[in-house]
Amino acid sequence: MAGRTATHEPPIGRFEGALLCPPLSLYVHLPWCVRKCPYCDFNSHEGRGALPFDAYVDALLADLDHDLPLVWGRTVHTVFFGGGTPSLFPPEFIDRFLQGASARLRFAPGAEITLETNPGTAEYGRFELYRSAGVNRLSFGIQSFDDGCLQRLGRIHDSAEAEAAVKLAQDAGFDNVNLDLMYALPQQTLAMAQRDLERAFALQPAHVSHYQLTLEPNTVFAARPPQGIPDDDGSWDMQEHCQALLADAGYAQYEVSAYARPGRQCAHNLNYWRYGDYLGIGAGAHGKITLGAEQTVLRRWKNKHPTAYLAQAGSAAAIGGDDRIEPARRPFEYMLNLLRLVDGFGLGEFEARTGLDRSAITAQLQAAIAQGWLERDGDRVRPTELGRRFTNDVVALFLPE
Ligand SMILES: C[S@@+](CC[C@H](N)C(=O)[O-])C[C@H]1O[C@@H](n2cnc3c(N)ncnc32)[C@H](O)[C@@H]1O
Ligand code: SF4
Repeated sequence: MAGRTATHEPPIGRFEGALLCPPLSLYVHLPWCVRKCPYCDFNSHEGRGALPFDAYVDALLADLDHDLPLVWGRTVHTVFFGGGTPSLFPPEFIDRFLQGASARLRFAPGAEITLETNPGTAEYGRFELYRSAGVNRLSFGIQSFDDGCLQRLGRIHDSAEAEAAVKLAQDAGFDNVNLDLMYALPQQTLAMAQRDLERAFALQPAHVSHYQLTLEPNTVFAARPPQGIPDDDGSWDMQEHCQALLADAGYAQYEVSAYARPGRQCAHNLNYWRYGDYLGIGAGAHGKITLGAEQTVLRRWKNKHPTAYLAQAGSAAAIGGDDRIEPARRPFEYMLNLLRLVDGFGLGEFEARTGLDRSAITAQLQAAIAQGWLERDGDRVRPTELGRRFTNDVVALFLPE
């Protein structure tokens, strides 16, 4: 690796020129929903009246133009439309954005292009047109197939609508489908969590995301917690039981909450978790870009509120902040992501993505191995089962002093 020397300088900062550009993804935030769910702290806003789809696509393209100099000449490997509820956007607007984006950026052949979809917004004709626009993966926000649970979560759809929406998408030719489910829901029992998975498996998705419901600050649920949320032991039992059911059904866990059939892992999310690069376009979107010439990692985020964003996109005023990640902070950032992965990381990848020598983390690795949180196999470092249960403690070892 360029710049490696045998001096006795401190390890951090010794490897000038060693930071290599990882694969690049594009995240596009579409901020509106039919109704705000009481547990949700995403940057999502109840859309009232006619939504400004056309103006928002113009803003997205202007925003992209403004960020392009950060990624000149690089290829985009994945695109993810997240929200909010991207499926509120009629397909012609997704098409116009993708056409504009591919005129500005080189897309890898067969790039994964995902659209988050709320089953309450599904229409058959739309799915065919999303496919024609280039979307090749759908991620459905199902949450549960129990109608009581769906009501308590304030969802706009019932279980029959959710099943019908997934089948419509499959009939329209989508074979790469993810279902988001949540567990540890108000008044949910272990048997109910199991039934949710069984109904998910019947739809044969390629991927299942299985999230524990969390009470996020500044949400309705945090202010007035609903009755009957399982306690820690109950939630842990549910997670263990569901993990086993997912494995038996052929969905291998590869991240804390992500399970996939062989070859169907989400390439976009994997790029985040491997400390890859991504442009973040849209209201409140976050990006992370390795700047080769400057030998630094830049985090950039956009203003959150759609109205302000619409007015400012394409100018510096839309940028909520820029943060250059100094070398001392990179091990913590890296572990925060990589230790979510069942397969961990290689020490060579750590060096390429942080620009630091592996010796920068020797002491922390030794401490984590001694605790039984990590295990090392040659160059590869993996979290143990115990380590995955205490991810926050493991990652805290890598905080800068
Ligand atoms: C941005 S939403 C995606 C799709 C769409 N907006 C919808 O809800 O149908 C991403 C996913 O995060 C999960 N999620 C949101 N809030 C959560 C919370 N408080 N705890 C756990 N998971 C949550 C849900 O499973 C949700 O589908
Ligand atoms: S539909 Fe999805 S993004 Fe919108 S409020 Fe509900 S969980 Fe959040």
